This record gives sequence, C-alpha cells and structure tokens, in this order.
Amino acid sequence: MDFSNFSGPSEAHNEFRSDTFTTPTLSMVQSLTRATVGDSVYNEDNSTLELEQKMANIAGKEAGLFCVSGTLANQVGVRVNLKQPPYNVLCDFRTHIYVHEAGGLATLSQAMVQPIVPKNGVHLTLDDDIIPNYIPDDGEIHAAPTKLICLENTLHGMIFPLDEIVKIAAFCKENDVKLHLDGARLFNASVETGISMKEYCSHFDTVSICLSKTLGAPIGSVLVSDAQLIRKANHFRKQAGGGIRQSGILATMAITAIDENVSKLRATHERAKELGKLCESNGIVLAHPVQTNFVFIDFEKSRLDGKIFDELSKKYNVKSYPGRISFHYQISDESFENIQKVVMDCLRLSKQQGSIATPKSAFYQSAKAQ
Ligand SMILES: Cc1ncc(COP(=O)(O)O)c(C=O)c1O
Repeated sequence: MDFSNFSGPSEAHNEFRSDTFTTPTLSMVQSLTRATVGDSVYNEDNSTLELEQKMANIAGKEAGLFCVSGTLANQVGVRVNLKQPPYNVLCDFRTHIYVHEAGGLATLSQAMVQPIVPKNGVHLTLDDDIIPNYIPDDGEIHAAPTKLICLENTLHGMIFPLDEIVKIAAFCKENDVKLHLDGARLFNASVETGISMKEYCSHFDTVSICLSKTLGAPIGSVLVSDAQLIRKANHFRKQAGGGIRQSGILATMAITAIDENVSKLRATHERAKELGKLCESNGIVLAHPVQTNFVFIDFEKSRLDGKIFDELSKKYNVKSYPGRISFHYQISDESFENIQKVVMDCLRLSKQQGSIATPKSAFYQSAKAQ
C-alpha cells in the first residue's frame, strides 16, 4: 500500500486559517490496523469505549461520549444540563457555542441566551459580569431564569484564569446553576499553565474537549461528565443524528493524536508568541494578548490593509485570515518565516499606500466585529 500521502510534509504546512486544518499522520493511519469494528451506537466498539474512557480519565470524570464534532459535543452538553424551559444560558458574547453553532441553543435546547460583553475585555468575571446579569429562579415570572453558564477555555487563544473559574463554580453550586465548559482547546490551556486537565474539569458539570483542532485527529470531540449525564447525553446525541456505527477507525486515530501530539502544543504557542512580539515591536496592535496558539491582529487600529495582506499571502504561499493567525504543530519552518514576511510587508506597504481596506474576513478581526 502507498502511504506517501501521509508520510511526507503535511499539506497543512502553510495553513494558518485554523488549527483544524492539520492532516492525519502516518502513525494515525497505521493505527487503523488496531481499530475494532464494533457498533458504537450499541456501545459495542472497544476502540471507541477506550477513547471515551481515556478522555474521561484525563478529565477526571466518570464517563465520556465520542461526538463527531465540537459543535455536537457542546450542544448535547448544553441540552443535557437543562430540564424545563423557560431558562437562559449565560455566556461570553464571543463564545463558539453562541456565535458559531448555527443557533443550536435556540433550536436544540429552546434556550434564551444572555451573551455578555466582559468588562475586562478578556474573560467573564463573577463580580462584574455574572452577578449583575444573573436571573434567579425566584418566582418572578417575567424573565427566563439562568440555569446554565457556559465558559470557553481557551477563547480566541486566551486562557480563562483558574481562580475566576473556581469563584464562578462556587456561585453556580450555591444557586443551582449548571456549568459547561467548551474546552475545545483546553489541552492548550493546560499545557501552557501547567494546571492539569483534571483540575480544570473538576469545576464543571460537563466539558467538551476537541480532538480535531490543535491535537490533529481527523474527526471528533469527547463530552465528559458523570456517568448518568453521559447516558442521557447519548440519548440527545442519537436524536441529533450523531450516533456513529463503526467509529473505531476514528477513535484509534484520535487516541494516537492524543498520545503523540499533546507534547507538541507548547511549541505552537511559542511560535504564536514570537509572531505576537514581532507585531507589537513594530507597532502593530493586537486585538488580544497572545497566550496560546492564536494571534489576533486589530487591522483597523494597526492601519493594515486586508487586501494587501491577502495578496501577500498568495505571494508567500501561506493561507491565513488577516485578523486571525492560528498555529498548529504541522506548520513548517519555511511557512513560519513566510507568515512573518506577510505581516511585515503588509505593514510597510499599507503605510506607503496610506489608505486601508477592511479585511475580507472582518469577522475574525476582534471582539467588536461581532
Ligand atoms: C472554541 C470552539 N468550540 C467548538 C468548536 C466546534 O468544533 P467543530 O468544528 O468540530 O464543530 C470550535 C470550532 O472551531 C471552536 O473553535
């Protein structure tokens, strides 16, 4: 069999649009020879059960549920925490669960959403953002009470501070409010801070953890929680058409990705920070601090021209959104050099030109774009 598609440099070597663009490696493909082929809808596939238990153990939870996507793991996670509408879900206004999941909170969970703009611009805090907006279930019938708070870690590459999570979790317990974490990139936070996945996850009722972004598996996320909630979540996953039959082939690739790639994350953060420093030392304004594998550039404040950025990306053979540059472990040294040239040339040429054009992907510019 010819494995050349998987053994050479990855096609994603120049791909800065997202950390989801990684391609499966030779060892992931070779792991397929170990994959079991039971029916996972019947809970009879050993590779899938192994992946679910592995993630549950990493997270310090009782059980896991393999989902085809982060969106499914989030939406099932939200649904399983909620019982009887009317209720509202409180979250940061930039969270994936609210902005990028096709209105799933409204259609799948019948939830009112309270999107909050964090006062500090970085993350929600209990005192400034949650308490002033929290709606108690106290018999007052005009509003939908807050029954779930969703946090995201990392959000736009930024790490949610643990001490704030602890405060929010204590508030939730006292007030019978559930707490969900979109931990699509929780491994990044954990690797960067040294705080274990278990410690982070211990404060949440449900956590979705992604395998296909940053870690590099081709497909999947795992929702982790206690065994009872996961049983019910499986019910909702099935309802959403997310039951997978012979998912062992996906599970073994994901297990390989976890085993091989967690240790590579720190290097991706170092590169993002290096680019962030290069930007700042040349007067380019960042929309957010660079803490893990994303660099968000404020094109407007930096007076950078998005059209020039796109043209330079073609010239230097890299793919990137102007406002958001993401890093993953398959970026090559050459492409890393090239993205730096794109940014620096864009600065020089935008200055020369004087006028600026809004980037095509203004969506990824900064928080205020939404
Ligand atoms: C923070 C976050 N959560 C969830 C998702 C959804 O994952 P998926 O694309 O697998 O549905 C994404 C996707 O990029 C994401 O960035």
